[in-house]
Amino acid sequence: MPSKRLLALEEVKDTAAIAVGVKMNSSRPLSRKAILTFMLFLVLGFCFSTISVNTYRTFIKKSVIAEAPSTYQPSFEEASSIESWIRTQSGLRHAMNDTELFWRASFSPRIKHYPFKRVGKIAFMFLAKGPLPLAPLWQKFFDGHEGHYSIYIHSTPSYVSSFPPTSVFYNRQIPSQLVEWGQMSMCDAERRLLANALLDISNEWFVLVSESCIPLRNFTIVYRYISRSKYSFMGSFDEHGPNGRLRYNRSMEPEVTLPQWRKGAQWFEVNRRLAVLIVEDIKYYYKFKKFCKRDCYVDEHYFPTMLTIKVPHLLANRTLTRVDWSRRGPHPATFGKGDITQELFKKIFEREICLYNKQPSTVCFLFARKFAPSSLDPLLELSSKVLGF
Ligand SMILES: *[C@@H]1O[C@H](CO)[C@@H](O)[C@H](O)[C@H]1NC(C)=O
Ligand SMILES: *[C@@H]1O[C@H](CO)[C@@H](O)[C@H](O)[C@H]1NC(C)=O
Ligand SMILES: *[C@@H]1O[C@H](CO)[C@@H](O)[C@H](O)[C@H]1NC(C)=O
Ligand SMILES: *[C@@H]1O[C@H](CO)[C@@H](O)[C@H](O)[C@H]1NC(C)=O
Repeated sequence: MPSKRLLALEEVKDTAAIAVGVKMNSSRPLSRKAILTFMLFLVLGFCFSTISVNTYRTFIKKSVIAEAPSTYQPSFEEASSIESWIRTQSGLRHAMNDTELFWRASFSPRIKHYPFKRVGKIAFMFLAKGPLPLAPLWQKFFDGHEGHYSIYIHSTPSYVSSFPPTSVFYNRQIPSQLVEWGQMSMCDAERRLLANALLDISNEWFVLVSESCIPLRNFTIVYRYISRSKYSFMGSFDEHGPNGRLRYNRSMEPEVTLPQWRKGAQWFEVNRRLAVLIVEDIKYYYKFKKFCKRDCYVDEHYFPTMLTIKVPHLLANRTLTRVDWSRRGPHPATFGKGDITQELFKKIFEREICLYNKQPSTVCFLFARKFAPSSLDPLLELSSKVLGF
């Protein structure tokens, strides 16, 4: 190929040389007719050289394509650039099944320094049955913070959302499957959310929320709190009694022993490293799937127990999502229209005390549940006053 290219260049040079040569000859005095003839010749010569150069260019291009069709592909250059590895995809649709998706999501770089500017994002993963009635409140929370968050929604497969293109929730549904509350399909959905979010290399923190959750602080505070924490906020404690240790099944030994058994609320925040640990796990997954069924409520035990065994030093052992059990019963309190007052939030924020990076802190929760759809309007009205956004 180089020889042909060279040939073309030679040709161009020759044509130019001729033109120059003719021009040099024109330096002696000539009649009007001779000058006109010469001009015509010059124009013709120029046209000829242009045509010949173009013909050669086309010829070279064609012959390159004809001779090496397998390596000359328009996307080749793009695919080999770093951009193709770090670009955020615009859509979330893909054709991978869970096996393929989890495998792909488990890729992680071993060199810790990124060779490009990376601003870590928080992936907000909404585990919902159908609609997100509190979406307008979240929209207000996210407004103005583009580039620092991403959104993923797992809902019942048959549910079709109708967010307008201006919404932060537009086109953020991931390929979903049916979920049975308290069963392994719930953990599957959470892993599916994590795996989809892991495909975006800039997601560094992963927060699981539900359709009845609200943010308790503004985005600035949430981002700072999560990004500066040395620990991931996975609730994990050792509870005795029927709702704790009594749910343990000895058949899980030796992978999981009774003293290792943990419980924690489902709503977590983990960093990228822990997200990969959750997605790649096979060993504990099958133990829990087989021996933590029905009244065991696997979604309260699997992640806390597994992560406590693998990386106890990276867990804060508490959740960021506040829930109100004061009304007793098996279900936490749900706040509706009539409950949303300044006094409620005064109560929520008062006397909070917890450890943050081993120091006492008065900010312990960033999110809260459960809030009914009817709470939306009063929440929007009060949010700038009580929630800071
Ligand atoms: C996904 O597809 C692969 C290849 O066809 C198959 O081996 C695997 O079992 C599938 N996984 C699931 C969860 O369907
Ligand atoms: C442990 O799990 C096995 C299989 O599900 C079950 O047959 C057995 O009764 C369980 N044992 C206890 C103590 O729950
Ligand atoms: C969380 O609990 C584990 C043991 O379950 C412990 O090793 C770890 O230090 C605890 N984390 C913090 C921040 O105290
Ligand atoms: C976020 O909330 C804090 C505390 O409520 C407030 O001081 C700060 O100004 C708020 N930031 C923004 C950008 O509104």
